[in-house]
Amino acid sequence: MTLPKEFSVFGEDYGTSEFKFGVATLGNTPDAIDSRGYFPDMRSALLNLNSRSGKELSTGRDAQMLVVGPPVAQHLEARRDIGERMVYPMRNGEIESDDERAWLVVKEITRYGLLRHAPEKAVAPEFNGFKCVAALSATAPRYMYDRLIRIHKEINSEEARTLTRALSIIPQPLAVAISQKRLACTVLEGGHGNTQIAPVSSGVIFSAQITLNRGGSDCDLIAAEILRDAGYSDLAREAKLVKVFKETLGLVPKNLTKIMQEKNSALFETVFKIPSTKISIDLGKNSWQRFLIGEYFFNPNHEIFASYYRRGFPRPADTFNEGRTVLGTTDLADVIIQSVQKCSFEIQPALYQNVILSGGNFAWHVPPNLTNYAVNSPTKLKKMLEEKGIAGSTVELTKNPVYNVWQGCIAYGLYIPENYEWDWDTREGWLQLVASAEPAGEQDISAEI
Ligand SMILES: Nc1ncnc2c1ncn2[C@@H]1O[C@H](COP(=O)(O)OP(=O)(O)O)[C@@H](O)[C@H]1O
Ligand SMILES: [Mg+2]
Repeated sequence: MTLPKEFSVFGEDYGTSEFKFGVATLGNTPDAIDSRGYFPDMRSALLNLNSRSGKELSTGRDAQMLVVGPPVAQHLEARRDIGERMVYPMRNGEIESDDERAWLVVKEITRYGLLRHAPEKAVAPEFNGFKCVAALSATAPRYMYDRLIRIHKEINSEEARTLTRALSIIPQPLAVAISQKRLACTVLEGGHGNTQIAPVSSGVIFSAQITLNRGGSDCDLIAAEILRDAGYSDLAREAKLVKVFKETLGLVPKNLTKIMQEKNSALFETVFKIPSTKISIDLGKNSWQRFLIGEYFFNPNHEIFASYYRRGFPRPADTFNEGRTVLGTTDLADVIIQSVQKCSFEIQPALYQNVILSGGNFAWHVPPNLTNYAVNSPTKLKKMLEEKGIAGSTVELTKNPVYNVWQGCIAYGLYIPENYEWDWDTREGWLQLVASAEPAGEQDISAEI
């Protein structure tokens, strides 16, 4: 059996909520697992019985200490200490250098992905390791690159085979631009934990990029508040339910003021049912609040949210970008303008003309019966930019918003030549994890970078 070139390129998108991974042959849809790991209470009797009966608890070496991937769901018992035991390492795109539990989770989700796709030696003896392209937040400091390199080397060593032969690491917004084949554009990558705004001209213009501490998880918070206000406090505590509720019923308003004037319209009403359960949510007269879920992401500064903040609802935290503070409540059009204005005036028109939206948090849908009230993300943002004097901008949502970063990793890996050595200045090329004189595939992980 000969392995096609596409098989050797492996993409790894370390998202804030999901780790998307897999080989190029997967096409448009990679595999994905939650970006999280669970550290079980080893005193649990049931857990011990399970492990004694030989049931595998984890794919990792630290099988008894950490669970990643689908088995995590079995540990979602109603425990008070779940918050401490469940670790989401990429929560806002950055990990502290000494946060060892978070790094252990990153290592185990990485191992999970590689092992899931690496062929058995007997099936493909010629397999000599993947060329991995990993995508991190554009704000990831150098030590995160170093640690990710170390993690890939350690996995090679611990598995006693070359799973990763060469590694490259690129910023997530650059991966989006690559997936869209754009040279000059402004990428907005809207994930669960954060939103990255990055002007791109050949590469990310790091001095102009802004990361907002605002993403899908904040829309979940406002959705939970709306559920509580409608009398569903118990359900509001179930994070996954709130997320599905938000994705199904949340809307982006064309004009929130108009919607508030028509608050009681029966058009906005709908009943949310969870299949195979008796759970049904009817917001009744509060149904218009569905529009607050989307508005909050685009403009948490809207006056309607003042009353939420007054009663203790947390404002999205401010961020510090290249020496300046960006308020967590800044509306998205303002953030784009702040970012583009940091770039040379010559490329500013191209940056406004090519605004690319990617990431699940831009995937809001518009129900056919509400087209006069709800809009998709590009329409919303274009209008917001127009209101601030930026006319004629082009705003597009990518075709595959949740998986674009992974697709960009794959395109990059297929495109750059094998002998293109990694350069720390440009952060491009391949870091060879295996010395070229040695045959890859066996246990050779000694090469230093
Ligand atoms: N159709 C949708 N409408 C609104 N939000 C969505 C939709 N699909 C996904 N999301 C939200 O997008 C976020 C996940 O996006 P993703 O790009 O995978 O994030 P990350 O890469 O940070 O893990 C979640 O908050 C999810 O609820
Ligand atoms: Mg992402």
